[in-house]
Amino acid sequence: MTESSSFYVTTPIYYVNDKPHIGHAYTTILADVLTRYQRLLKRPSYFLTGTDEHGQKVQRAAEANGITSQEQADRTVVRFQELWKRLDITHDDFIRTTEPRHKEVVQEILQDLYDRGEIYKAEYDGLYDVTSETFITEKDLPEGKTVDELPNIMRIKETNYFFRMSHYQDWLIQYIEDNPEFIQPDFRRNETLGFLRKPLQDLCISRPKSRLNWGIDLPFDPDYVCYVWFDALVNYISAIGYRRDEARFQQWWPVNYHLIGKDILTTHTVYWPTMLQAMGLPQPRTIFAHGWWLFGDTKMSKSLGNVVNPMDLIDQHGVDAFRYYVMAEMTPGQDASFSHDGFVRRYNADLANDLGNLLSRVASMLGRYHEGRIPPRPEAPQAGSPEAEVWATVQTAANEMIGSLKTMRIDFGIARVIDAIKHINRYLEIKQPWTLAKQQKTEALHQTLYVAAECLRAASALLYPVMPERIGALRQALGMADREPVIDRVREFGVLEPGTALALEGALFPRIDRNPSEAPPAPAAPEPVDESNLISIEDFKKVELKTAKILSAEAMPGADKLLLLQVACGGETRQIIAGIAKHYTPADLVGKTVVVVANLKPVKLRGQLSQGMVLAASSGEVLSLISVDRETESGAIVR
Ligand code: ME8
Ligand code: MG
Repeated sequence: MTESSSFYVTTPIYYVNDKPHIGHAYTTILADVLTRYQRLLKRPSYFLTGTDEHGQKVQRAAEANGITSQEQADRTVVRFQELWKRLDITHDDFIRTTEPRHKEVVQEILQDLYDRGEIYKAEYDGLYDVTSETFITEKDLPEGKTVDELPNIMRIKETNYFFRMSHYQDWLIQYIEDNPEFIQPDFRRNETLGFLRKPLQDLCISRPKSRLNWGIDLPFDPDYVCYVWFDALVNYISAIGYRRDEARFQQWWPVNYHLIGKDILTTHTVYWPTMLQAMGLPQPRTIFAHGWWLFGDTKMSKSLGNVVNPMDLIDQHGVDAFRYYVMAEMTPGQDASFSHDGFVRRYNADLANDLGNLLSRVASMLGRYHEGRIPPRPEAPQAGSPEAEVWATVQTAANEMIGSLKTMRIDFGIARVIDAIKHINRYLEIKQPWTLAKQQKTEALHQTLYVAAECLRAASALLYPVMPERIGALRQALGMADREPVIDRVREFGVLEPGTALALEGALFPRIDRNPSEAPPAPAAPEPVDESNLISIEDFKKVELKTAKILSAEAMPGADKLLLLQVACGGETRQIIAGIAKHYTPADLVGKTVVVVANLKPVKLRGQLSQGMVLAASSGEVLSLISVDRETESGAIVR
């Protein structure tokens, strides 16, 4: 499919049974960050979020709170709206499913499908799960449990209306197979295809009012309301003018991304596509299901009550620190574990030490050596110079950050930008402006400070969509007039205006000092040395360690822990099997320089030759590859 000229992205519309937590914040921030990048790239964009206000779940919450369902919705929707405001979320629209503009379109769709025989009436007898608002079968019950023991599961026997979903099964399978981008990541596409191997049932889309009254009335039968999912999914088109404003609808549909959590994969990749097909509408370009934020190793969820309230973190460390943490920490598609320690660690490393520290160094050196002003503009960096090298790293980071939008690997793009920031810090260490000042090498001193400030300007612009407020402040500190960057200028060298005064106010990201009670325990006293496991230098020299560059990586069929790597090591290419598939995806690895044991006897594993071993450090659950911290040719000796 060719890329569309406009960009339309949605989040799920969240239930108003309870207030939002970090999981809801995550999807919404991801949509915001994607949209902000598209805006920088000057692509017309539309970002929709909202709330799902009907259904059993909301009605039950209202009953528990002793208020009406509408009151429950009105009170809770504000919690979402306040949080989005606090998080600097720039959605173009916020839809509530209780609004007339939505309800009327749902009713028209229902009437149309009914008139065309896509909806029919029949007897239903089966199980219903209130937590997920979906029908389930006996097989879906937790092992050894019966319906009576599960308060959220009920048996329903009643006459209802059904949508002829089964009719679309073959078409849907074919469509998914023909359109690899339709469901992402790939393993989620396989999950949906797996689901579709069983016969697809028709979908019960009504509830008798005698049992549930909180929903949209069926236009053709006043005794029933519409099933909440059949109502909710329609928000993605009712909000952009379906059946109301054809031009507006055509401008945005089909959507570029429905961002969802993996919990609602089936409703989005089976119910919704078949509904759209019955309506005669084009399919979404991509339904992207991200993983879960876990607490320890269980899903964070309102129903489980183990949620982290984003407001607390924001109050303590700032909105942008929170936005940064969730974007940098989670690889979209995989699960991520939230921990306060992890938050502090990442904040201190990336934001306080690398980014914040670079700004304060540049500002303080300019204060000391150039009256706090941007120095004269040097010539464009000469090929082969440290200036050219650091500028090239920033440009590579720009390519990777922007490239990561298409592959939905924002975490990877961010990591490359932080690498570039590290490189700028290293550049200052190599050039030693303080020595240049002592030696009165003014031109070289000015060049160094200009290049560092200019590289910081360009690299930090790439983080603007993630941290709009803090990067705006950084730009202001560098004396720039516009808080918002222009993406083309990331590619231009020499944008900072000589003579402009810097205006730094305090630290950009003050270090978080751990509260002593949270400090890691002091290291234990050294163990007495046991000489029996010591080796001589001769023994050690037998092991040939070399750097190797990973050229390609792929899964080993039938072995879920193993990856098959092709690496360049000096002049030769070798194949190595590494047990790292649980920790790295192939995309993480390609291009990385790692350390390998080069003189290990080759072995055959599952019919494949492995010529060497990749070194990695493991601590608890975390495994990290040993790599080199600056550009190094492959085949270099390690000792
Ligand atoms: O399902 N980790 O609403 P909902 C990551 N109303 N993301 C999480 C999460 C977690 N632990 N918990 C929630 C509904 N989310 C329906 C949607 S759409 C037409 C109707 C996020 O309030 C994630 O995006 O249960 C997930 O899919 C969504 O919140 C579910 O929100
Ligand atoms: Mg849910």
